Amino acid sequence: MPKTYLFLLLLAGSCPAFAQSGAPLTASLDNVRLTVALTASGQPTYAVAYRQKPVVNPSRLGLQFVDGHGFDGPLVLTGSEVKNVDDAWQPVWGEVKSIRNRYQQLTVHLRQPAAPGRRLDVVFRVFADGVGFRYEFPKQPGLQYFTVADELTEFALPGDHKAFWIPGDYDTNEYPYTVSRLSEVDNAPLVKASTAIAVRDAPDPQAVQTPLMLKSADGLYVNIHEAAQVDYPAMQLHVDRASHRLTARLVPDAVGTKAYLRAPGRTPWRTLIVSDRAPDILASKLILNLNEPAAFATTDWIKPMKFVGVWWEMQVGKSTWSYANSADTLTAAGQLVPHGRHGANTANVKRYIDFAAKHGIAGVLVEGWNVGWEDWFGNWKEGVFDFVTPYPDFNVQEISQYAAGKGVKMIMHNETSGAATNYEQHLDTAFRFMNRYGYPAVKTGYVGRIVPRGEHHDGQWMSNHYVRVAETAARHHVMVDMHEPVRPTGLGRTYPNWLASEAGRGNEYNAFSDGNAPAHETILPFTRLMGGPMDYTPGIFKLRNYAAGAPQRQVHTTLAKQLALYVTLYSPLQMAADLPENYEQHLDAFRFIQDVPVDWDDTRILEAEPGEYVTIARQQKGSASWFVGAITNENRRTATLRLSFLPKGRRYRATLYTDAPNADWRTNPEAYRISTQTVQAGTTLRLALAPGGGAALSLVPMN
Ligand code: NOJ
Ligand code: CA
Repeated sequence: MPKTYLFLLLLAGSCPAFAQSGAPLTASLDNVRLTVALTASGQPTYAVAYRQKPVVNPSRLGLQFVDGHGFDGPLVLTGSEVKNVDDAWQPVWGEVKSIRNRYQQLTVHLRQPAAPGRRLDVVFRVFADGVGFRYEFPKQPGLQYFTVADELTEFALPGDHKAFWIPGDYDTNEYPYTVSRLSEVDNAPLVKASTAIAVRDAPDPQAVQTPLMLKSADGLYVNIHEAAQVDYPAMQLHVDRASHRLTARLVPDAVGTKAYLRAPGRTPWRTLIVSDRAPDILASKLILNLNEPAAFATTDWIKPMKFVGVWWEMQVGKSTWSYANSADTLTAAGQLVPHGRHGANTANVKRYIDFAAKHGIAGVLVEGWNVGWEDWFGNWKEGVFDFVTPYPDFNVQEISQYAAGKGVKMIMHNETSGAATNYEQHLDTAFRFMNRYGYPAVKTGYVGRIVPRGEHHDGQWMSNHYVRVAETAARHHVMVDMHEPVRPTGLGRTYPNWLASEAGRGNEYNAFSDGNAPAHETILPFTRLMGGPMDYTPGIFKLRNYAAGAPQRQVHTTLAKQLALYVTLYSPLQMAADLPENYEQHLDAFRFIQDVPVDWDDTRILEAEPGEYVTIARQQKGSASWFVGAITNENRRTATLRLSFLPKGRRYRATLYTDAPNADWRTNPEAYRISTQTVQAGTTLRLALAPGGGAALSLVPMN
């Protein structure tokens, strides 16, 4: 596509009269229209409409500084520019092979009317499916280093929308979603009852996290989030229950302020994605488009993959991360005899490597391999891990040679227990260790309270830390999957080795808590995944009686739904989370996990409704094969699948992994059927999904 840059000057020079009576500035693309104006008292506001319907009514813009001279008082407009961009780019990995980036940009130049006369730009980009905007601080004599006390950005919603939200906790996003009207948002009981293992700190009972998914009474879908959260805290939203006005709340730092910035500089983009069709929200590339291109040129070492791991067995209490603990015995001679339940022992790791090699799964993750797990979290310590010292029963040399001999990649695990400073001190040694033993990827973790003490997982300091880790990993050619970080904002475009994050309530909650409701996975694509891939750890096959000492626990899905999640929850690093012995019981169903790719040329959101159902078809990268995942919430449902995305005139062999007629996540979750049939572009399939159920399909061309 040829690049077309049309530069159009709307207003130039100083225009003080605008503050009183000037015509508003506008920008629009297709059905989306943005209006920017100054109020009579000189406050900048913006409003967004979609097909003439208000998405946000005139809403405040601005920032408060600690020095008292921020952009919260009256401002004057000194000029503005509009430009149009329409180009395309190719992601290193992703849901589609090429992404169109088409927008109209409006830059608004503002100035304080009185001394110190500081200048602020607000840059808006209007896309066909929404708007992004950010504050930019141009280089100027009166503004060098400054501290943000608060951001005043508002989203004045025109109605009491239905909202899919999690509480505005500064340290964890591992919450189930609440579906309620905005007027009903109340955090406090949720935060109190949370089983999240990070510290809970949510002082505002009416604040929610983003991505926030909203639906208006007349069927407008609106998603509010941000893009490119770099060197700035996460934005949460305070909900005014009476007026439905949302106000930015930045996660504070250890001394109670929000962000240390300097000019020239800028904030992350604030994003609004809007459509009258729910599938358009999932198909949006607005957030990725607002991120910077890859920060480094050579990316051929980045290889999306599936992996198994010495992991679920610890989650369900079958083995332990720690080598030694209170179940050990001491001999009369003072010798420690470990309890024998340490998961990451050489023989057990080899068993996973054998399974991966036999079934064509590329990677093996091992947790609990290094010294420190005896006392790993809870006491807000400086850090107990050095990331390079294996337990005596984990022979790293032998294991890496064994894996290499079988063509299997090892995945490193670096749990920091929240001690980020300790991790930074060891980063280079940790990555050199991975290079030495041939680990191409690392899963990091931040369970517990953050050190530096007083910092939060979602504050500015930690947001810089995650980027430092991704950058350092890139220098060492290591791919990263972060657990317990701030929720993503599309930075996987800029750091394509940052393949995945957890940053949400994963499948693991089914192991150690009451778990995730059947609707959970139908909400995640509209919320957590709007910012980037999620390491949800799907693929549990033994859905009941897996948790030691807790027979009542069960995964809240059927087995077929676990398969469908490989398509509906996109991640270029995707785990097959269950134990090899549980997969051995159902190798016919495991076949789908073997076949399903983690990198795609094309994606079609066939049907979707947050909280209800999601059906997605994706085309394998570099292949004509397609894969489909369909999931439902607790309600039984028939998914109607028109295969119009297939190329005309070509016959496909479809393998259907579906719920058995009597399947039900509560009573009969492991009942599935596998069938095959010949299909083509004109075929319509009706898939019966059980309560909490799903269906997974592979479609392979026949000639
Ligand atoms: C929480 C992570 O989400 C989980 O995957 C990991 O096993 C534990 N922390 C231990 O690091
Ligand atoms: Ca976690």
